[in-house]
Amino acid sequence: MKSLTILALTAITLLGADGYKVYKDHCMKCHTEMMTKAEALKSFTSLKAPPMIEVSNKLKDNIRTMDEDEDVKRRVVIAFVKDYIDNPSVQYSMCESMAIERFGIMPSLKGKLNEAQKQAVAEWIYDRYKGKTF
Ligand code: HEC
Repeated sequence: MKSLTILALTAITLLGADGYKVYKDHCMKCHTEMMTKAEALKSFTSLKAPPMIEVSNKLKDNIRTMDEDEDVKRRVVIAFVKDYIDNPSVQYSMCESMAIERFGIMPSLKGKLNEAQKQAVAEWIYDRYKGKTF
């Protein structure tokens, strides 16, 4: 029994943090997971932030790499998200100015997430919405 527990703990450590759990614990209260553009426009006044599907798609559209290599692009988007968690700024936001006027800039979550949690949630944001349009 004891060795099973150790095995399970090792597996969790090796796999790193669970990105979806990090999202639910730290991002979901502001960023809805899934929404169509029509739904978002309808409930625009009650939203606190752009839905996460929009964040994901916006970053993938805006961040272009030289040869459009998927792995490179994925790494750059992940690096952007990890940095934005700690250092949100009007300078780096890719949100439309109308949305920023409405929502304001995201508050910094510096110190709330460790490196593994930031990595996991950023990967989740990239992979969760693959092939899904907003
Ligand atoms: C208190 C509300 C709030 C929380 C909690 C929050 N965000 Fe945000 N986030 C915002 C708002 C508002 C914006 C839009 C304005 C901006 O770009 O800063 C935003 C924008 C972003 C952007 C930039 C999108 C762009 O187009 O530039 C990313 C990336 C992001 N959030 C990721 C996260 C992640 C990851 C978490 C959880 C770890 C999180 N946010 C938690 C409110 C929040």
